[in-house]
Amino acid sequence: MAESITDPTAPASPGARQRPAPRFPVVLEGQAALVTGANSGIGKAVALGLGASGADVVVNYVTHPETAEEVAHQIEAGGRRALAIKADVSSEEDVQAMFAKAIGHFGTLHIGVSNAGLQRDAPLLDMTLKQWNEVISVNLTGQFLCAREAVREFRKRGVVRDISVAAGKLVFMSSVHQEIPWAGHVDYAASKGGVMQLMRSIAQEVAPLAIRANAVAPGAIRTPINRPAWETPAAYRDLMTLVPYKRIGEPEDIAQAVAWLVSDAADYVTGATLFVDGGMTLYPGFTTGG
Ligand code: BGC
Repeated sequence: MAESITDPTAPASPGARQRPAPRFPVVLEGQAALVTGANSGIGKAVALGLGASGADVVVNYVTHPETAEEVAHQIEAGGRRALAIKADVSSEEDVQAMFAKAIGHFGTLHIGVSNAGLQRDAPLLDMTLKQWNEVISVNLTGQFLCAREAVREFRKRGVVRDISVAAGKLVFMSSVHQEIPWAGHVDYAASKGGVMQLMRSIAQEVAPLAIRANAVAPGAIRTPINRPAWETPAAYRDLMTLVPYKRIGEPEDIAQAVAWLVSDAADYVTGATLFVDGGMTLYPGFTTGG
């Protein structure tokens, strides 16, 4: 029988699912990855997952240095190198300094995962320009700035065949809300719709350089950003009406998708968005059958 983990917080329900124990094949040895927003939630799981897959990892953070150091220590305990670097991804100066430091430390970078993101939710009529600008700056401009620096390094180094058949790999953290409109969150949905075309256009532009760019679009994942959606049994039950697969996603579900996308096993995949959402984008509300 497959190893599985029982979800301790899921209310008992006929459709409740168990989830498999995460597995990370060691296929990224000799590669260095930079993950933004890597001190909590999805970013933390991605940083740990890439470390478990054999990569050395830059753990970017903007607040709570101790949590970033802890992630770095866990990666080192697994036998890989790690470096925590503070940078606000919406600042060009910070991003350039972070890449310079990372490349100085590891010699080069092979993988860039732009994960840092935030929500500033408000109904349209109450949404302030400050909230709008903050979300667009971090979620969209931050992904542009990090992708540009990463591609500069990938292009300079080119392909090193013993390491990877690609010169570099980018993963953009999107959301189901690149596709599903989200009333009450227009800033966030707009940022993720922007990430989709940012990623696709970059993928088209850098493919001739043997650089791949893809996105992962998580659905409802158990992280602090959406705690109210899963922390009580009533909220969890409501959430499950939106998730055909009948379990909340775990950060490791996303980390495994990222680890595969940046490996040579996905070498012919570029410009794609991989939805990791338990079927949320299948619009379960539109079913007619019982
Ligand atoms: C948001 C979460 C939300 C999920 C599904 C994510 O992108 O950050 O707050 O629960 O989409 O709606």
